[in-house]
Order: sequence, then structure tokens, then C-alpha cells
Amino acid sequence: MIRVALIGYGQRGKFYLDAFSKYEDVKVVAVCDTDPEKIAIARKKFSLDENMCFSSDTQFFGSGKIADVLIIASMDQAHYAQAVKALKIGYHLVLEKPIAQSVAECREIADLAHKYNRQVYVCHVLRYAPLYTTIKKMIDDGKVGNVISISETEHVGWWHQAHSFVRGNWRKGGDTNPMIVAKCCHDLDLLVWLTGKKCKSVTSYGSLMYFKKENAPEGCADYCFECSYKDQCKYNAMKFYTEYPAFAFASGQYLGSPKDKQAIYNAFSKRANPYARCVFKCDNDVVDNQVVNALFEDGSTAQLTMTAFCEGGIRTIRVHGTEGEIEASMLDNIIHYQKFGKIYGVQPEEIKVTVEETFGGHGGGDEKMVDDIVHALRGDASAKGLTSIDKSIMSHLMGFAAEESRLEDGKPISI
Ligand SMILES: NC(=O)c1ccc[n+]([C@@H]2O[C@H](COP(=O)([O-])OP(=O)(O)OC[C@H]3O[C@@H](n4cnc5c(N)ncnc54)[C@H](O)[C@@H]3O)[C@@H](O)[C@H]2O)c1
Repeated sequence: MIRVALIGYGQRGKFYLDAFSKYEDVKVVAVCDTDPEKIAIARKKFSLDENMCFSSDTQFFGSGKIADVLIIASMDQAHYAQAVKALKIGYHLVLEKPIAQSVAECREIADLAHKYNRQVYVCHVLRYAPLYTTIKKMIDDGKVGNVISISETEHVGWWHQAHSFVRGNWRKGGDTNPMIVAKCCHDLDLLVWLTGKKCKSVTSYGSLMYFKKENAPEGCADYCFECSYKDQCKYNAMKFYTEYPAFAFASGQYLGSPKDKQAIYNAFSKRANPYARCVFKCDNDVVDNQVVNALFEDGSTAQLTMTAFCEGGIRTIRVHGTEGEIEASMLDNIIHYQKFGKIYGVQPEEIKVTVEETFGGHGGGDEKMVDDIVHALRGDASAKGLTSIDKSIMSHLMGFAAEESRLEDGKPISI
């Protein structure tokens, strides 16, 4: 039996416990969260003993080793200290991305994993998404020859930017992580994993251009519920959160029924609710646009654009090799492949990738990653362990270097 404990029963933590508890040989044995309401929900759902529910990580770690694996799905700023304590106590880890808040912290976690011989899986779920596993296989099979350049766009989306990076938990880079690490470590990770190449250097530009006071409409209020523009503004909090109750829930400001629109409306009509604020009058400092250029050791290059200004929620990619090119989007999960030679009659191919109906997200990657981790924890030879800390750390080194470059006006930073 694999005993699982969790710190952080929020949006991600809920998914993990639901996903892990589907396996007959996995048992959820302990939950830790600072929010008593969340603890109560988890306790009931997984029939946990009272002494296996913890309201602080100090209390949790004080109990010694009470499970085999610990899932760390708390906020970014807690990951490092919790991971270090857990490794010293003897847990294997499923560690939400970002790994930590600096290169030194990330390296220390990797070193401790080696020192204590622990398995640490970083939740780079896109390595398991069928769209990207198909592209990876095509590259590995030589369909495009040697990859010379690769470009990605992370279409964050106006609404996601407003929810998470303007009003929400990831709005201040110093508290959590810079945007290029917090949101885009996935994209940087894909560049490294898909090409199998080592990054040598990065440059980056980016800024917070739009979600700031200068762009507030004349005379608009600090809170949407008091604002004369509320009927015409797409960022109107009452409207957005009643339309998308999942986000109302994710904000932690409303835990009631998703169908009770009036209750959601009321919850987002209060000054005490930070998600009720005008998007132009928050205390956010993370960028809403950023570009990263990467140079690999063999001279090949990669480019990533992150933008808030799109309908959003998708990623797109182009891979350019010596023998062909690939273009794909998470919007439709279709891969367009052209082996070079159209003028000689080589036809383009369209590959529709099947993504099963899932209860997790990330293009089907969430559940497939959990499945592989369960196999790895069982010691199955078939486990791929695609997101072990050693394989995952490069994305973070690139992300922190990109932020350093951005802050130094695009100076090249060696990895
Ligand atoms: N892999 C991915 O694609 C992906 C997607 C979204 C978020 N994340 C990451 O997952 C983590 C959690 O994000 P989320 O959206 O679930 O946030 P969330 O706010 O919904 O959940 C975090 C939970 O942790 C609890 N918590 C915070 N600090 C704690 C502490 N010190 N001790 C105990 N409990 C604590 C909070 O009460 C909350 O219930 C973040 O680091 C985030 O960056 C990863």
C-alpha cells in the first residue's frame, strides 16, 4: 500500500487526492491545510482520522514520517521549506511547480533528493499531455531531422491574467515567483524536453504594460461593485465570477454552490474580497507580456512569447528541423506536419491527437502524470518518470535567468 499525505488542499491538491485515491493500492492518510473549511471537506471525503488532519505544516512535520509520499500543492513560497523538511524526514515528493523561488533553492532540493535517495516528481504535467507526447515521438523518430529552431506562445488570456496575475495569488513576483517562472516553467520545460538539448544562454524582454493605474478609465472606482463602468467592462468581477463559478471557487472567496449566482454575485461585491478589485487598481507587479530567446549548446535556438492579450487558455508551438516542420495548438489538438519537398509532391499531414475526457486538465496531462508517478512509486519498470527533479530543473534555471535578463534590459544570461 502506498500511503499519501498532502499539504495544500486547494485547486491542485483536490485534483491530486481524487486522482491518487482511484488506485486500489494507494491510500490517502493525511491532509494539511491552513484553511479549516478545506480540512473539514478533505477529512469527510477521505474518512481521515482527526489526528491525521493538520492545520499547519509545523504540526504536520512534527508528527514524523506518517506516509510514504508527500504531495506539496501549497503556494509557491511554501514549497522550498516544506520540500526540504519532507526530504530530511524521508518522504518521496510530488512537488507542484514552481519547484522553489530561486536557483539556489531548486538546486538544494535536487541535492537533498540525491543525498537521501528520494524520488521527487515536479508537476510538469505537459510532458504527459498527448499533444506533446506525440510531438516528442515525432522529433525522436527523426520526422523533422535535427531541430534548428522552435517557438512557442503561451496564450495566457485576458481573464486568466486578471484572475491569477492581477487580482490573485501570483500578482506579486516577490511573494511567489516571476511570471516567466510561475506560468511559463511549463513552456521552458517543453523546449528542453522536446529538443533534448541543453540551454546555454537566454535573453528576455517584458513588462507590465496594461494592468496598471494609468490605464484605468476616467473616474472608475476601486471596486467593480461601486463602478459606473461595470456594465461595459469585461473585467467586472461580479459578472466574471458568476459566469465562471470554478474561478470563484479557485479564488478561495466563495465555497458555496456553483449554481447560486446571487450568492457568488454578493461574495464579489465586497471590499474584503481582493478579487472584487478593479484590474487597473490592484497591487500587481508581474508582467503581462514577455519574450524569451534561448540559445542551445549546439547553436540551435528557441523562442517563447507569453502574452495576456488573447482569448487565452492555450499554447501553440512550431518546430523547425532540417527535414521538416511541425505546427500545433492545444486549442484543437491537431498537429500539422510537413516533410520538406512540397514542390516535389510531398504532401502535408494532419494528425488529430485524441485527448480522452479527463477530470484533470492540461490537455489530458494531469491524470497521465499521476498514473506514471504511481507506477514509479510501485517500482514498476514501465514507469517513465518524465518529470523527476533532475529532468525538471533546467526549465527553472532558464526561467530565473530570463527574469534576470528582463530586469537588465535583455542582457544575455548564461545558464
Ligand atoms: N502543475 C500545474 O500546471 C499547476 C497549475 C496551477 C497551479 N499550480 C501550482 O500549484 C500550487 C497550488 O496552486 P492552487 O491553484 O492549487 O492554489 P490554491 O490556493 O487553490 O491552493 C493552495 C492551498 O494551499 C493551502 N496552503 C497555502 N500555504 C500553506 C501552508 N504553508 N501550509 C498548509 N497549507 C497551505 C491554502 O490554504 C490552499 O488551500 C501553486 O504552487 C501553483 O503554482 C500548478
